[in-house]
Amino acid sequence: MKVLVVGNGGREHALAWKLLQSSRVQEVVCVPGNGGTATLPGCRNLPLSVTDFEGIGRFALVNNIGLIVVGPEVPLAAGITDYLHEQGLTVFGPTQVGAQIESSKTWAKHLMQTAGIPTAQAAAFDSASEAIAYLHQQTAPIVIKADGLAAGKGVTVAATLEEAQAAIESAFAGEFGAAGNRVLIEECLTGQEASVLAVTDGITIRPLLPAQDHKRIGDGDTGANTGGMGAYAPAPLVTPALMERIQREVLEPAIATLRQQGIDYRGVLYAGLMITPEGNPKVIEFNCRFGDPETQVVLPLLETPLDQLLMACAQQKLEQLPPLQWKSGVAACVVAAAGGYPGAYQKGFPITGIEAAQAAEAIVFHAGTKIKAETLVTDGGRVLGVTAIADDFKGAIAQAYEAMGLIQFESMYYRRDIGHQVLHQS
Ligand code: AMP
Ligand code: GLY
Repeated sequence: MKVLVVGNGGREHALAWKLLQSSRVQEVVCVPGNGGTATLPGCRNLPLSVTDFEGIGRFALVNNIGLIVVGPEVPLAAGITDYLHEQGLTVFGPTQVGAQIESSKTWAKHLMQTAGIPTAQAAAFDSASEAIAYLHQQTAPIVIKADGLAAGKGVTVAATLEEAQAAIESAFAGEFGAAGNRVLIEECLTGQEASVLAVTDGITIRPLLPAQDHKRIGDGDTGANTGGMGAYAPAPLVTPALMERIQREVLEPAIATLRQQGIDYRGVLYAGLMITPEGNPKVIEFNCRFGDPETQVVLPLLETPLDQLLMACAQQKLEQLPPLQWKSGVAACVVAAAGGYPGAYQKGFPITGIEAAQAAEAIVFHAGTKIKAETLVTDGGRVLGVTAIADDFKGAIAQAYEAMGLIQFESMYYRRDIGHQVLHQS
């Protein structure tokens, strides 16, 4: 089978890499891909935009692509799956109506309320004046969220009502474009965050290993929010008993309610959770795709062939698949970014040391890289991630950092404390 992967991040490199480990996968085509997917044996890049649905569909039909796996939320929210279905293609990724679980926070909140899924209390507003009037009846800290997709920048956890008001005003002033024409004011949850990525065929839903991300740019979880600076799995915070509750209280009600609404959701349902100090799971947000960098720690631990799993979802045969098989170790991933990220940064710096890092038994997943005149150069904010697998977190984290130390590019930045939560346990 030939598989087409849509996207160009570390997540898509990890998807292509894992798919190619299956004996049934003959070739992976990545659209548009990055420097890592360009050089991965068995994989090649196709230089089309992720929203060029016609181009992707035509290529898939002509080249006999058996499965299309959509990585990012933007094409899903724009209806790529609906378009490709109309062409008779097999797709892993929800349709546009299902992708609203990520593309509209009010839609997702309504679904959670209908399904009885534990989440923060929230109210939605279409004008700054109504939002501000409501805000002044609340107490800080409080969370302000733009309704639509804002590339991870639409959330403000405000320590004071003044800060919250400023966030409301800037959303309605157009900071996030149309995504901020509606704003949610949400109760601030406390606890520890975890990412549970589950795969579903619209009827059956199976969680993957739980992971933890590191969203802030700085050590000690300080500074601006990013797409994610590192991850580890399986997250010990999510014990087997807690995972069972997440399955029963979050994942199954979500998929059952989608189904009741006539939505045939086939893809990833990613639950971003807050585990409260009392040990209860509450949903912070749902995403309609694999997490990045969570995928770079979850997939390397998966034994079950990925093509088989994704195909079972796309063809609504997940119930027939045997239980997922996992490797026994743990994985950690450290992300290297271009200096300045998540603010302004430069591109085009040559990258060295990747082979040495691989020789140190790490897996290097490229994100913002490309090949320019036969040289690998930086091409984005998050440049690459180094994943290592070991028997315990101490080993995996040390190995990932050792390999990262062999990689160099101008302005390279990475956090030095990935996995600080689990360093003292195994
Ligand atoms: P989101 O884009 O919804 O993932 O939000 C980004 C980050 O904001 C989350 O990872 C949390 O750290 C934080 N956050 C979002 N909603 C809440 C909430 N209701 N309470 C506390 N923190 C939140
Ligand atoms: N790492 C967070 C996300 O993928 O949304």
